[in-house]
Amino acid sequence: MDAARGGGGQGSEDDASQEDTTSVADVSVEVATVDASLHKLCRRYNRRRRRAKKPKKTNPLWNLQNLAILITVVVFVVVVIMWSLLWVFIFRRESNSGVYFAGMFRVANVEFIPEYRHADSSEFLSMANPIQHVITSVYRTSSVSRLYKQTIISDLSNNNKGGVLVHFWMVFVVPHLKTPAVCEECVSAILRDSVFTSLKNRSSVGFLQGLPVDIDSILVNVALRSDYTSTAMGSQCVDKLYAGIPDVSIPLNVFSSWGGLTCHIKLTSAPGSIIRLTVRSLRIEPSDCIYDGLNVYDALLPMRGMILYRFCESVSVPVSLVSTSNVMLLSFSLTQGSKIFRGHFQALLEEECMNLIELPAGPGDAGVITSPFYPNLLPRQCSCTWKFQMSSNALGVALRFQNYILKLKDSQNCEHGWWKVNEIIYCGNYIDHSTVFRISTPNPEVVFRCSSRNADQPFNATYSSYNIGQPCPEGHFLCTTGLCVEKARRCDGMDDCQDESDEIFCSKPPKLCGGSSTLHPLYICNGEVDCSGGKDETNCTQETSCSGVSYRCGDGVCILKKNAKCDGAPDCFDRSDENDCACGNPGVLKRVFDSASPQQRIVGGVNAVEGEWPWQVSLHFSGQLYCGASVLSDGWLISAAHCFSKERLSDPRQWMAHMGMLNQGSAKHVAEIRRIVVHEYYNARIFDYDIALLQLKKAWPISLEQYIQPICLPAPSQTFSEGHRCWVTGWGYRSEQDKVLPTVLQKAEVSILSQSECKRSYGPVSPRMLCAGVPSGEQDACRGDSGGPLSCQAHSGGRWFLTGIVSWGSGCGRPNLPGVYTRVAKFIDWIQRHIDAKGTKL
Ligand code: ARG
Repeated sequence: MDAARGGGGQGSEDDASQEDTTSVADVSVEVATVDASLHKLCRRYNRRRRRAKKPKKTNPLWNLQNLAILITVVVFVVVVIMWSLLWVFIFRRESNSGVYFAGMFRVANVEFIPEYRHADSSEFLSMANPIQHVITSVYRTSSVSRLYKQTIISDLSNNNKGGVLVHFWMVFVVPHLKTPAVCEECVSAILRDSVFTSLKNRSSVGFLQGLPVDIDSILVNVALRSDYTSTAMGSQCVDKLYAGIPDVSIPLNVFSSWGGLTCHIKLTSAPGSIIRLTVRSLRIEPSDCIYDGLNVYDALLPMRGMILYRFCESVSVPVSLVSTSNVMLLSFSLTQGSKIFRGHFQALLEEECMNLIELPAGPGDAGVITSPFYPNLLPRQCSCTWKFQMSSNALGVALRFQNYILKLKDSQNCEHGWWKVNEIIYCGNYIDHSTVFRISTPNPEVVFRCSSRNADQPFNATYSSYNIGQPCPEGHFLCTTGLCVEKARRCDGMDDCQDESDEIFCSKPPKLCGGSSTLHPLYICNGEVDCSGGKDETNCTQETSCSGVSYRCGDGVCILKKNAKCDGAPDCFDRSDENDCACGNPGVLKRVFDSASPQQRIVGGVNAVEGEWPWQVSLHFSGQLYCGASVLSDGWLISAAHCFSKERLSDPRQWMAHMGMLNQGSAKHVAEIRRIVVHEYYNARIFDYDIALLQLKKAWPISLEQYIQPICLPAPSQTFSEGHRCWVTGWGYRSEQDKVLPTVLQKAEVSILSQSECKRSYGPVSPRMLCAGVPSGEQDACRGDSGGPLSCQAHSGGRWFLTGIVSWGSGCGRPNLPGVYTRVAKFIDWIQRHIDAKGTKL
């Protein structure tokens, strides 16, 4: 097996080099011929010349001319030779390249025997060889037969469904132009089609030239050549470990002696068991897994479709995850340096997740249900059933989740958990607050199925019984999040329900300035005079209880003034509100250009001037403008998650940040991106949590601070009331139908809308969204502006704050359909957490 495999690989290279040698020889023969003919020509020419000009003495000028011709000819010949050599050695060799696929399928009706674990055993070979031949003959008789090179069976593993799981590599040698012919779908379709034609009855097992193969188990993924070479047999970079006895931990420690290589550890456990991997600590450079990373696969080969989890950052709090069968692959990429991995793995016997819960009457939590293997990560596949038994028909079950929400399933698939409660299907989603799911039928059955592509965060929920007739306690209001809040909090201008369901259909709180009644907290110290005489804006540095509407100073004390941050006046006792305020203050340049009247160019926007928005960044993907962003510090930018959500968009190496730029193409600085941090709860369907941070590879040069400057982050308490005017900037389209992007940075003035106004236009918008626009719609952001800033000043001359990030909208510039922005004030902790953890300074 080994020899055949190695021999095959070697063979082709030898062939290639043989071919190369022949071609070189050919070239030298040609050169000799050219030289000889040249000589002949020269001689003949000279003879003729001599005959013609016999009486005269040879003219030295003539000689010079000859020399020049000769030199030109020689140079020409040398160039031709060099070019041919180049072509033979480099271009031709490059124009054929290997395309590698990792695949697997289940062979039914075969019993797994332990010897199959050893690829050099005769049992392995006698099983693998025929399979290898079958695959080869399938591809040799297919449309890609001329490109097919070889198949290597790398592993045979037990399948808990029965039969043997075959892992294999497939290699194609493809001239560059033909690459699409061996696309992933095409290659896998060939295998599927061959099995499909033989499917009988409703069984999923068909025949691949006599081999019983389960069509549902076929998976073929394109893989990297480096993965192929490092997992193929004989590689120094693959280790195999086996856990035979359940629950016995086997230590796994890796030190980065592998510097620069991708190395693999293949884990297997006893048939019928699954594997739990625990990562106790991992020390790597964060780089979105581009340089350092650990990829864990739910298979024995690195197949994209079988990724269980990607560790792209250091781990200090242990993380455990489980496989879906008895195999797992750890794929380490570690660059030079002191990279360390410590952990262990063990075999686990799968337990049935079936629970019968008797729920006592009476208030208070009665117990907790958890995702399977809690607190391990949620597996890719699982199923759990909880049957609740109530003591009375008047009682229902209330499940209180920490950071998870169940919503009725629509036509889309559930991406983070599938739930069935009394025959009704729900999808689960992660969220940053608690929710209560109430089941108003007695003795309900709750079924949960894992439905995430990779291992997900685990969840737990406390359960209690509740009175179906009256879900919330007396004097409380039931939110759509299931939470109960005091009735007095309804329409108080504050989001007590966490989804603003206590704030819909509310009129604005009245401004009760005089008399005994107190003024609504939203009006107190919000920077605007709401009461005559401005008494709502006095004593604002007064200490108050901490809440969403008070400013929290560095020492933990809260004060009334909501917009205390960086307003030029020290308000906190410790003056922390004026720390870190080198932001949002366009410098000298702005003032110089201010007087120049900008030319009206497009519906809603005007040209910006140099240095006016020094935090504005143009993000280019593969060389094209794709999104906007804002500068937060010398090492970090902020943008929208949806700019990076597709797989191809998530590679930081494809992005460039053009900074300090007014006209496209004239950036003062172009920065490379080290990594992209997309919000973990980003929901691509409704654009919730549409925020991302970009870490730069290198800090931008401080000498450019005239042109490049951070924008200030708002405090969580920052409020700009309805009608407050802000600016949106970007190089996006100037209208919905526009085909060409503007060259000059555009700016448009828009007003902040109240959340109820926003909901009137769009229906449900989350508390993490903010609307801004003008009623006519004439001023708005559009495609290409995404991720860019919505910049607001508390008052003219003050600092600029990043109040919003361009996120979405219905069309562009339509009346009564404002632009929707990510509400940055909701993410201050999240931003700080990420920037602090990885260091703002580079
Ligand atoms: N999603 C868009 C982008 O990717 C931004 C849309 C903003 N639309 C609007 N009408 N404000 O560039």
